[in-house]
Amino acid sequence: MRRASTTRALMGMLVVAALGGAATQVAAVDFGDPKAGEEKAKACAACHGVDNDNPQFPRIAGQHPDYLLHSLKAYKNGDRNNAVMQGQVANLSVEDMKDLAAYFASLDSDLETLELE
Ligand code: HEC
Repeated sequence: MRRASTTRALMGMLVVAALGGAATQVAAVDFGDPKAGEEKAKACAACHGVDNDNPQFPRIAGQHPDYLLHSLKAYKNGDRNNAVMQGQVANLSVEDMKDLAAYFASLDSDLETLELE
């Protein structure tokens, strides 16, 4: 009896451990809310779009979230100097930038580079 309940308890712990491991693997982004980011990204769509089909602007759909967040923060604090993007981030909070980074990173894109002529 005693052994059976110990075994059951051990099995339970193994299941919890396995599920815990799976949960951390599925989460591709550990910051930001892609759903909230989608709403905020309407301001970005005119230039960046969501499918990387405009060669005039950097392709950000499917980009790594930490790279996106780093870039947005760099525009905001002036480390990266670009009048257009500095205007875009001027009124964004860190939370906004995290949500935007999470959203654009979640988009399905293989981030191919353009062919050189
Ligand atoms: C009016 C057009 C325009 C809008 C709107 C715009 N961007 Fe940009 N974005 C640009 C341009 C131009 C650059 C390249 C700037 C440079 O050379 O640093 C850029 C660069 C970026 C980069 C850096 C990309 C890289 O590969 O390094 C990120 C990230 C970015 N934008 C995110 C956003 C987000 C998020 C929004 C919406 C809040 C937004 N942009 C709105 C024009 C725009």
